[in-house]
Amino acid sequence: MRRKIVVGNWKMNKTVAESRELASGVLAALGTSCSACEVGLAPTFLALDTVRHVLEGSAVALAAQNCHYEDDGAYTGEVSAPMLQAVGCGYVILGHSERRQYFGETDETVNLRIKKVLEKGMKVILCVGETLEEREAGSFEAVVSSQVKGGLKDVAGVSDIVIAYEPVWAIGTGKTASSEQAQEVHAIIRRKVAELYGADAAEAIRIQYGGSVKPSNAAELFSMPDIDGGLIGGAALKADDFAAIVRAAC
Ligand code: 13P
Repeated sequence: MRRKIVVGNWKMNKTVAESRELASGVLAALGTSCSACEVGLAPTFLALDTVRHVLEGSAVALAAQNCHYEDDGAYTGEVSAPMLQAVGCGYVILGHSERRQYFGETDETVNLRIKKVLEKGMKVILCVGETLEEREAGSFEAVVSSQVKGGLKDVAGVSDIVIAYEPVWAIGTGKTASSEQAQEVHAIIRRKVAELYGADAAEAIRIQYGGSVKPSNAAELFSMPDIDGGLIGGAALKADDFAAIVRAAC
């Protein structure tokens, strides 16, 4: 039985003070009602340390939204895996479609980052997903499969990897994939993992859905057999909505 995982990706939102307030609000809204599912928060780099202090003593994990693949050096504007490890991150989101779309990230650079994050003992949330054009052209299976294969190239095992299926056309658009559409792609991803790592690894890996998840659609999405939780954007910026989504996964 896979333990569901719900992570709030705050993207480029919230000052440090607002992040502190939101993280406290999330803890208060969650209460002790849900221990069945794993929960994480991914504030901006700037707010990681502050949010870490808020989360101390709770079961909620700290996650970063990206990281560079070198340990240190002349990479202006970047943050490295050892820095994230030192600040207490348990997870790093990698390959988000916004990183691929606006910052030129490719399967190759995502793969380098994944290997670095794993080497530093943190877990990875690898994001994959097709664009609207790719969906309409019917190539989503090929696109998502090659993102999984490319992202995981030469990665020995997937026990520290969560995959997030985030169809680009459903992110921030209010257009959620139907639970059947999402389930179809989650099953494709699980089959791809089976092909690469064997049946046991495929059965164990958690695959989150992301893209306009809200309290009103979370329970249905999370009831699908291959959907193991969610990566939440907009709705994670409201403590009550995020907590309601977590409860839907419990
Ligand atoms: P929204 O929930 O705002 O659609 O964003 C999803 C997402 O990109 C999470 O990483």
